[in-house]
Amino acid sequence: MTVQNSNEILRKILAAMGSVPPQVYAPGDDTFLMVDAVATLSVEGKNVLDVGTGTGILGLYCALCGAHVTAADIDEVAIRHTADAAQLLGVELKLVVSDLFSNIHSQFDLVLFNPPYLPSEGAHDGTVDGGSGGRDLIVRFLEQLPAHLQKDGSAFLLVSSLNNPNTLRKSYYNFKFSTVAKRALFFEDLEVLRVRLRNDLSI
Ligand SMILES: C[S@@+](CC[C@H](N)C(=O)[O-])C[C@H]1O[C@@H](n2cnc3c(N)ncnc32)[C@H](O)[C@@H]1O
Repeated sequence: MTVQNSNEILRKILAAMGSVPPQVYAPGDDTFLMVDAVATLSVEGKNVLDVGTGTGILGLYCALCGAHVTAADIDEVAIRHTADAAQLLGVELKLVVSDLFSNIHSQFDLVLFNPPYLPSEGAHDGTVDGGSGGRDLIVRFLEQLPAHLQKDGSAFLLVSSLNNPNTLRKSYYNFKFSTVAKRALFFEDLEVLRVRLRNDLSI
């Protein structure tokens, strides 16, 4: 995918999205870094799950690239907003209200999660509050992830220097973590980690 094509797809999505309801997370630097990471892959024909879809931007992006997409969020308003944008764009997504994987019963080639990742002390709402150390949601996600990955599947997970991602690397030996995209902001460093099961790797 060229940068030009990727930007064109994003422009279409942002136009269809219109104004974002106040309780839904509006796309930010973290979102666009996830888009950059996804744009490194060819997702056409792949089964993709977008966990915590918010405005639906990541799921819609993959759907416009030809993926079969399930988009999930704990917030019904976010799911309704995503449904409206999908209709305007003429793409079909499976939309599910779900606490992480609680209502997801299949396996995917690619699972995306831009989680609420701020430590609770600095967070002001559920779209950004990642609990203690900013890692509670991420830990729950990683515990449940293996049951939802196809063989050779992977997840793209957004982490921040604010939630100390090295702790994850040290705690989860069953996963191999690699960096797909990173960006330094003035108050944090963002990184998209590719997460794969070590059992699936030949080396
Ligand atoms: C940082 S926002 C990311 C939104 C969107 N994916 C993006 O990249 O702009 C985190 C999203 O996770 C959702 N969320 C929070 N807790 C969740 C949970 N337990 N299960 C599923 N989604 C959750 C929030 O409603 C919010 O839409």
